[in-house]
Amino acid sequence: MIDTHCHIDFKDFDRDREEVIGQAAEFGVDRLINIGADIPSSRRAFRLANEYENIFCTVGVHPHDAKTLTDDFLSEMTTMTGNKKVVGIGEIGLDYYRDLSPRDIQKKAFIKQLDLAVELDLPIVIHVREAMEDALHIIADYVGRLSGVFHCFPGTVKEAEQMNNMGFHVSVNGVMTYKNSKMADIGRDIPLEWILIETDCPYLTPVPHRGKRNCPAYVRFVAEKLAQLREMEVAEIDKLTTRNAEKLFRLVETFG
Ligand code: NI
Repeated sequence: MIDTHCHIDFKDFDRDREEVIGQAAEFGVDRLINIGADIPSSRRAFRLANEYENIFCTVGVHPHDAKTLTDDFLSEMTTMTGNKKVVGIGEIGLDYYRDLSPRDIQKKAFIKQLDLAVELDLPIVIHVREAMEDALHIIADYVGRLSGVFHCFPGTVKEAEQMNNMGFHVSVNGVMTYKNSKMADIGRDIPLEWILIETDCPYLTPVPHRGKRNCPAYVRFVAEKLAQLREMEVAEIDKLTTRNAEKLFRLVETFG
């Protein structure tokens, strides 16, 4: 099983990072993709990926930190992606819910990083919150040139279809285990070929651990919920979603 979106570089894991990585393996989560969130986090993700054989990473600047993205860092990202453990650009996107960077700056940073992903031929990890319309509008210009995953998918089944038509996967996480979550509709109703699973740890802890710190091991509860929603075996869900992630991030191609 692969946790396709975790942040174990965050300080929440400073105390016990090693144990958390070991615990993931015990839960059958044998590979992790640590997603870069800002400049320091991308650098930490890069170091972790080079320290542990089963950790991969992406590098990128989240919309919250869009105002910190510099041309220097864009070229540093280019250098980092020369390393095979860097499997994508992200997380990038738009977040109008918290508006921590001005919206025009968020859009510019998003577009610059989309351009970079095209140039480097790497998949992207998209974060969008309360900005779906603008995000779809921007991404529409890249159709056919980009692949990627829309992480923690906040939209409807119809919007998931739209994303898939544009060449993107969607990922589901612990939110799907919460009461009356519309993410459960996504988990149940869209073709499994479009779905990746993730934790987004340390956030969004799935039931039955909600309220505590999330960790990569708990992607197992996401897979279990998906299995329950689709009336399938967890092993089958694991096999298919792992294949989707391997394909999107080219894990097999690169590592055999
Ligand atoms: Ni994230």
